[in-house]
Amino acid sequence: MAVHYGVIGCGMMGQEHLRNLALLPDAEVVAIFEPDPVMRQRALAAAPAALLVGSIEELLAVDAIDCLLIASPNHVHVEQLEKIAAIRPLPVLVEKPLFTSEDDTARIEVLRQTYPAPIWVAMEYRYMPPVARLIAEAEAATGGIRMLTIREHRFPFLQKVGNWNRFNSRTGGTMVEKCCHFFDLMRLILKSDPVRIMASGGQAVNHADERYEGLQPDIWDHAYAVVDFASGARAMLELCMFAEGARYQEEISAVGPLGKIECKVPGPGRFWPEHLGAPPVAKVIVSPREPQGPRAIDIPVDPALLDAGDHNGSTFYQHQRFLQAVRGEGPVEVSLDDGWWAVAMGLAAQQSSVTGQAVTFPSRPQRQQHKASA
Ligand SMILES: NC(=O)c1ccc[n+]([C@@H]2O[C@H](COP(=O)([O-])OP(=O)(O)OC[C@H]3O[C@@H](n4cnc5c(N)ncnc54)[C@H](O)[C@@H]3O)[C@@H](O)[C@H]2O)c1
Repeated sequence: MAVHYGVIGCGMMGQEHLRNLALLPDAEVVAIFEPDPVMRQRALAAAPAALLVGSIEELLAVDAIDCLLIASPNHVHVEQLEKIAAIRPLPVLVEKPLFTSEDDTARIEVLRQTYPAPIWVAMEYRYMPPVARLIAEAEAATGGIRMLTIREHRFPFLQKVGNWNRFNSRTGGTMVEKCCHFFDLMRLILKSDPVRIMASGGQAVNHADERYEGLQPDIWDHAYAVVDFASGARAMLELCMFAEGARYQEEISAVGPLGKIECKVPGPGRFWPEHLGAPPVAKVIVSPREPQGPRAIDIPVDPALLDAGDHNGSTFYQHQRFLQAVRGEGPVEVSLDDGWWAVAMGLAAQQSSVTGQAVTFPSRPQRQQHKASA
């Protein structure tokens, strides 16, 4: 039987979700709350059978809904989750980042302890086929990762409804908004939590000549971050948002005593210039130390999934897994705790960049104690 979705916020990412849900035979979008008239019409084009409603309250009054998707701007995710908790706590897939300010930690903890249904934080990068392949093979290829490097070289931030993504106050800052994905991947791949973050970032090239209601955006366009993990592994992130000329958008490498594994992921096909021919295909490369000899494997993604979004098919695969969790047939793979860590690491990287000091994380038991008393 189909699972019926209610959708909150249907801009660029919400519409990517709609196109992917349309490809899933066991999912149906029955109602949408989207305040912007242009986006509302685009959403209806992607989900013609859906009922358009004027508020979250009206959405939650639609009986047929089995689960919710939140794809509204970052700074409203927590208040919307709280509203849903108070009215009708259905299973939710909430877009990253889960929250935008350290002050939200206690509110996340209340949700974690009291929300009676699954809350899954959308972390699409986990489900990109080349990244999933690297994760699956990393242990055997490296013999235990000691160094993990994630590089994203991409296009500048796109224009959003109301320009919410131009300001730290509404995004949490670039290290939260953009990089929470990569901090989440670090914890997932290394199976450990961070103990210390050092970072350096800022605005170098983009946004300098933009003004919104007289204000210049304060969002950053480049950064480095170095993270020490409890396991002793080290990770590094390099972000550059004025590098859309690159062949690959994300490059991840993991190295250990036995060798190296890396993956190379192209950006959205719709941005690849036509005169350069077909867009690049994702790759995984395994490079043992003994015997030496790198092996490159192409990881093609179903063209129908590539066309449905900007994230290498991952939105489709994530919904498949989320649907299993909604039906009680699978776990919540990206929990509120995972969502908290990804943002906490991003906020720490923002702070480290501003102060020039490393930020340390308390151990897990200390953190639980801190949250309980917050
Ligand atoms: N996982 C990913 O790879 C990925 C990629 C892009 C965006 N996102 C996330 O998805 C969310 C939406 O981003 P986007 O790129 O679609 O932005 P967008 O501006 O294109 O869309 C946001 C939509 O939310 C609507 N909206 C504004 N206030 C709202 C409210 N209070 N309630 C409901 N809807 C509201 C806007 O009208 C707009 O249509 C953000 O949290 C963003 O970080 C995730």
